[in-house]
Amino acid sequence: MAVAGYAANQAGTATVARHEPYVEAPIRAFAIATVFWGVVGFLVGVVIASQLAWPLLNLDLEWTTFGRFRPVHTSAVIFAFGGNALFCTSLYVVQRTCRARLFGGENMGWFLFWGYQFVIVTAALGYVLGVTQGKEYAEPEWYVDLWLTVVWVHYLIAFGGTILRREEPHIYVANWFYLAFIVTVAMLHIGNNLALPITLGHAKSYGAASGVQDAMIQWWYGHNAVGFFLTAGFLGMMYYFIPKQAERPVYSYRLSIVHFWSLIFLYIWAGPHHLHYTALPDWAQTLGMVFSVMLWMPSWGGMINGIMTLSGAWDKLRTNPGLRFSVTAVGFYGMSTFEGPVMSIKAVNALSHYTDWTIGHVHSGAMGWVGFVTFGALYWLFPRLWAKKGLYSEKLVSWHFWIATLGIVLYITAMWVSGILQGLMWRAYDELGFLQYSFIETVAAMHPYYVIRVLGGVLYLSGALIMVYNLWMTVTRGESEEAAALPVASAMPVPAPAE
Ligand code: HEM
Ligand code: HEM
Repeated sequence: MAVAGYAANQAGTATVARHEPYVEAPIRAFAIATVFWGVVGFLVGVVIASQLAWPLLNLDLEWTTFGRFRPVHTSAVIFAFGGNALFCTSLYVVQRTCRARLFGGENMGWFLFWGYQFVIVTAALGYVLGVTQGKEYAEPEWYVDLWLTVVWVHYLIAFGGTILRREEPHIYVANWFYLAFIVTVAMLHIGNNLALPITLGHAKSYGAASGVQDAMIQWWYGHNAVGFFLTAGFLGMMYYFIPKQAERPVYSYRLSIVHFWSLIFLYIWAGPHHLHYTALPDWAQTLGMVFSVMLWMPSWGGMINGIMTLSGAWDKLRTNPGLRFSVTAVGFYGMSTFEGPVMSIKAVNALSHYTDWTIGHVHSGAMGWVGFVTFGALYWLFPRLWAKKGLYSEKLVSWHFWIATLGIVLYITAMWVSGILQGLMWRAYDELGFLQYSFIETVAAMHPYYVIRVLGGVLYLSGALIMVYNLWMTVTRGESEEAAALPVASAMPVPAPAE
């Protein structure tokens, strides 16, 4: 297995096997879209964070309220920023590690690109106009869902087809994670969006399930959106870009396979931890809790594998700030996958549920893991996709890193304090058995933490704007690399895996 992994890691060195160049133009477009939607999503995040701190900013207009902007933020960061990053990197990685041109070629790449941007824009327009299914992370109505299904099936065909026509016998582990993400998201999306429109000319539809079944399907979807969209796909990124940046093989290829199978087997059962103390049968809640606690093990196995890939190359953290992003991302991954299992324990969830603690957990995973691993990949990809010798400024990458890290720390610590405070205030009783605090008192107590969160968000956004400038200058002013040298630049000169 180790030898196979080594061989797949070498993909790209033996460029002679390719008859046609890899598809790159749509991948460049996906890279630009990742940056663009990232900035939009972070900006809307800052806006909604400000609305929570200063409600006047809702502007008293139905289109600009928190309720309509919140799904714009979550969809922009998860599906637009994260989704474009996954399309971009998966299509880049699969071609190189399989030594095969994208199935469907350039046309397929462009169809996926424009098809997916259309999903994003129609979904966002719907939110602002008040068209929604009311299911978190699955807000778009049936017409967007149908179109996304068409795009996603093409994605599966393009990705799977490239694997099938590979010239490299071994399927490198990053592709396993990407494939699990594509297949599972297809299944979740269809399962959770089975609905009947009122009429074909009407945006509104009614879901196939109702009551507690609807809730269970929604959180089977919601949790696995975290597990497969925000985790498995980004683990694919980790398994390709960290070894590339560190110029080392994956620490343990065997562990990566164990990581893969245990992660995908356990994740799918953990959804009920979102429905503790609801009408969901108690056994199902306990099942969700037990599988969540077990999830800690593969998650940390993966984290260790990612971080230990640096063994013998730790010095690169000093000289390669892009790698610093990727490795810190894995640290945040470890943190949020420790916190998640703890929060899934019913006694803990009784305190944390409905509070800002959940929001803190979400953002250590989202800003720290998803955001940082993507920034690391973008800094690696931009010079290569545009055939430049390197980034415009490594120093600016460092600035981005420190400003964004400070932003995350402010954000999540504020939410931990506010969340636990909120939970404790809600459950405090006086000596006569009455609630000690009225709801509005708890809201007022949150205010300082919400202001700190805005500050954290502004820092994170500022870091991203520095990245935009740096990448823009790299593309427009960077020194060009000989086009012919490109495949060599994407090869991985690694020694045999350390197993
Ligand atoms: C500038 C950075 C960001 C800011 C200021 C920000 C702010 C916010 C705010 C204020 C909320 C609503 C919280 C509430 O309802 O109480 C929220 C929710 C959310 N954000 Fe962000 N966010 C940022 C970045 C991100 C990123 C990068 C991601 C994902 C990659 C993300 C994913 C989410 C998710 C999934 C939720 C919903 C959480 C839940 O329902 O429990 N955010 N964000
Ligand atoms: C072992 C891994 C993990 C486990 C067991 C876990 C568990 C949990 C639990 C128990 C909740 C609170 C549910 C509630 O009270 O409503 C939660 C919420 C959430 N987690 Fe995790 N988590 C894990 C990793 C992650 C990671 C890595 C991310 C992000 C990349 C993430 C994103 C979220 C989101 C977005 C929510 C909010 C869902 C919502 O209510 O809208 N989780 N998680």
